[in-house]
Amino acid sequence: MADKLIIFDTTLRDGEQSPGASMTRDEKLRIARQLERLRVDVIEAGFAASSNGDFDCVKAIAGAIKESTVCSLARANDRDIARAAEALAGAANARIHIFLATSALHMEKKLRMSPDQVFEQAKQSVRYARNLMGDIEFSPEDGYRSDMDFLCRVLEAVIAEGASTINVPDTVGYAVPELYGQFIKTLRERIPNSDKAIWSVHCHNDLGMAVANSLAGVQIGGARQVECTINGLGERAGNCSLEEVVMAVKTRRDYYGLDVGIDTRQILAASRMVSQTTGFVVQPNKAVVGANAFAHASGIHQDGVLKARDTYEIMRAEDVGWSTNKIVLGKLSGRNAFKQRLQDLGVSLESETELNAAFARFKELADRKSEIFDEDILALVSDESVSADNENFGFVSLSQHSETGERPQASVVFTISGKEVHGSSDGNGPVDASLKAIESHVKSGAEMVLYSVNAISGSTESQGEVTVRLQNSGRVVNGVGSDPDIVVASAKAYLNALNKLQSKSDRVAAQG
Ligand code: KIV
Ligand code: ZN
Repeated sequence: MADKLIIFDTTLRDGEQSPGASMTRDEKLRIARQLERLRVDVIEAGFAASSNGDFDCVKAIAGAIKESTVCSLARANDRDIARAAEALAGAANARIHIFLATSALHMEKKLRMSPDQVFEQAKQSVRYARNLMGDIEFSPEDGYRSDMDFLCRVLEAVIAEGASTINVPDTVGYAVPELYGQFIKTLRERIPNSDKAIWSVHCHNDLGMAVANSLAGVQIGGARQVECTINGLGERAGNCSLEEVVMAVKTRRDYYGLDVGIDTRQILAASRMVSQTTGFVVQPNKAVVGANAFAHASGIHQDGVLKARDTYEIMRAEDVGWSTNKIVLGKLSGRNAFKQRLQDLGVSLESETELNAAFARFKELADRKSEIFDEDILALVSDESVSADNENFGFVSLSQHSETGERPQASVVFTISGKEVHGSSDGNGPVDASLKAIESHVKSGAEMVLYSVNAISGSTESQGEVTVRLQNSGRVVNGVGSDPDIVVASAKAYLNALNKLQSKSDRVAAQG
């Protein structure tokens, strides 16, 4: 029987550390449910001790997920570990993931601890955690840049204390495939009790090699767990991409000889959900989930694919979920059809009130747009979750006037704590005028660091999905809004970002 490769998804923890990718509790829950449908083995739900908000998210996910193991990150101290265990108490299968830096640079400059102190703390933390839970993972942060002798000493000790997974992070994305694979192999060969643990890889993408490094860790090093994120989401250049690593192992099973438990038909839905929730747009030429991943533009390729698909295709589009790109609902569809479609897409709205509100928005959209695609529905419920949070700012209506040679004017009606306000302004364009109309009341002083518009389902009849990234007092948030009218979508995205700016509490950074 082939070995199994464990897929550990950290979209909700390491992915969320990406500036602007922070998610609400409901958004995280929805993504966690999709990850479970995708059949990932482990979901890293957050870093419970980093904030009360993160604690609540881990707890909610632990309570909702039954099939996948739910994991919380923790620093190597009793308080963090106890907090993680508390958040995970309701989980069917739980894991605590402890990290402590082991590179000379991190120990000296960041932790200000001697190697002996780090060694003792690593050991004690695993011992303490092991009394609370059976499934403990240990990560030597910046492991790949750590001294081999010291790393062997620490890892041997934490395995002896009961850590059952050892993860070797390339925290700064410095590794190259052959060397990283060899590094894991050497660790496994030199550590006497290495066979008592499952070895795991965790690669960042700073040099664009996170997937290649992870695969080398598996193939050369013998790792049997890969830590990854949907769409490769993550700080800086991101993490190893789940969809790429999974499809590489599946497509080249002849070479890797490993099984993965992932239901690949759920990949595209997961990718879209993460992209729409965070506002991180997937590049068209992204492997597996990019809009062009299975599009053949050249006549020669099209001809070949029509004659025999495998002339130019190594994977089947429908195996990663592409077949869902069809008209699913219209103006005449009823509430039950809408509810069923939401279920098929893996969206569960918590109450009848939320479902009714989402259905009303669907009807409103269907009046204006004849063909409703899955992407429209996902965008619509993302918007719904924004307003369902009962946050401070809500969109009501907008009118704008623009004419060649004249300065555009906009009036926006929106709510602040439930009370309607009207703002008007001119601007360089209708979008600029609308956002200035909102800002004239709110006076957030936030700086806009990104504005982007994406056509959800391709054509000009499509809804526009707008992402607005705002920065204020060191915080960065993304707001997302969608509507067939891109000026309205922009106003919604701006209000969504203002809500997030207000609600997001400060956190302890995992790599700070
Ligand atoms: O990249 C890293 O080192 C991490 C650890 C916290 C596991 O994300
Ligand atoms: Zn990381």
